[in-house]
Amino acid sequence: MKPKDTIKNISPYSEGRGTNETGIKMSSNETPFPPDKSSFELMKGALRSINRYPEKEPGGLKTLIGKFYGLSERHIVLGNGSDELMQFIYMAFVDPGDSVIIPEVTFLMYGIYADIFGAKKVTSRMKNYAIDLYDILKKIEKTTKVVFLATPNNPTGLLVPEADLVRFIKKVPSRVLVAVDAAYMDFADDNYEKRFKSILQSGKKNVVFLRTFSKSFGMSGLRLGYSVADLETSSVLNQMRQPFNINSLALSLASHMMKQKNISQRRIIKIKKNKIQMEKFFERNHISYLPSQTNFFCIKLKKSKAFFDFCREKGIFIRSMESFGMPGHIRVTVSLKKHNQLFQKCLREFLKKQEGDAK
Ligand SMILES: Cc1ncc(COP(=O)(O)O)c(C=O)c1O
Repeated sequence: MKPKDTIKNISPYSEGRGTNETGIKMSSNETPFPPDKSSFELMKGALRSINRYPEKEPGGLKTLIGKFYGLSERHIVLGNGSDELMQFIYMAFVDPGDSVIIPEVTFLMYGIYADIFGAKKVTSRMKNYAIDLYDILKKIEKTTKVVFLATPNNPTGLLVPEADLVRFIKKVPSRVLVAVDAAYMDFADDNYEKRFKSILQSGKKNVVFLRTFSKSFGMSGLRLGYSVADLETSSVLNQMRQPFNINSLALSLASHMMKQKNISQRRIIKIKKNKIQMEKFFERNHISYLPSQTNFFCIKLKKSKAFFDFCREKGIFIRSMESFGMPGHIRVTVSLKKHNQLFQKCLREFLKKQEGDAK
């Protein structure tokens, strides 16, 4: 079979290393904490009914999520990971030949879906590693359908400040959808997720927020994300779903996590504490890093590829930033204290070796 011309040159998403390897995984920005006891118990119960299809319209979970934002459940759409919601956005709003605007350095799936759906990718430039909202506005053209922006961004870790985002949304023509991917917002010091509702109301109706249970909620393996948007947009996105797109285990654990927010809150506090410790290490060792509003750091290193390999030999999996368009950088997920310390030891050893080689 000959595949469609439009998908000939797609480079598939290359996930962070270590998924099937033994070692310390600091490559995919997951939480290092396994499910707590109450989650285990709940999942055991949920397993008893996996012979049945999951709920088709999981109203209970959507109501819980909606309540958190002060919105009705009709504003919420669930996806098999927020990746699936990105796919829904393309399915619903982007025809082949339409264009989408994607920042130069950001989450790779926005561009991969553009290739799959035959959309033209327009790249907006970065300004000191931050997303340049003015450049995005300048690049909006007649064919533009969607602007993707991640706040905080992956892999830079930088947040688009709320006031800038609100101003930006007001300037974007209403025929262009602004997809705001807030996958890491729970880790940000200036977490404005509670104000999504007012942003939706203050701007036009062409905004969709994407969230995930993969990061702060520790559910990467179960695949669950959701969108928060205006009723019309939500209704269209909801129509893109296959009948049972969310599995029953994800549904029950996510409801539990929404009701017991203290479980994820405790983990976020620990990660934030470990972040400070990492920052101190970088400062002490004169390592150039971007100030992170997420659970990872993007670090500038002369021999980044060699360091990636060095870590791998020691069983520590980090992410090299070449595929993200940031050569000379690596990204490392903030993990448990003992794992962060092993990473730091590895970096110190590498730098020492470099110094030795240079002599
Ligand atoms: C910015 C961003 N958005 C979305 C995702 C994907 O999330 P999910 O696991 O919900 O598909 C990631 C995963 O790393 C990400 O970095």
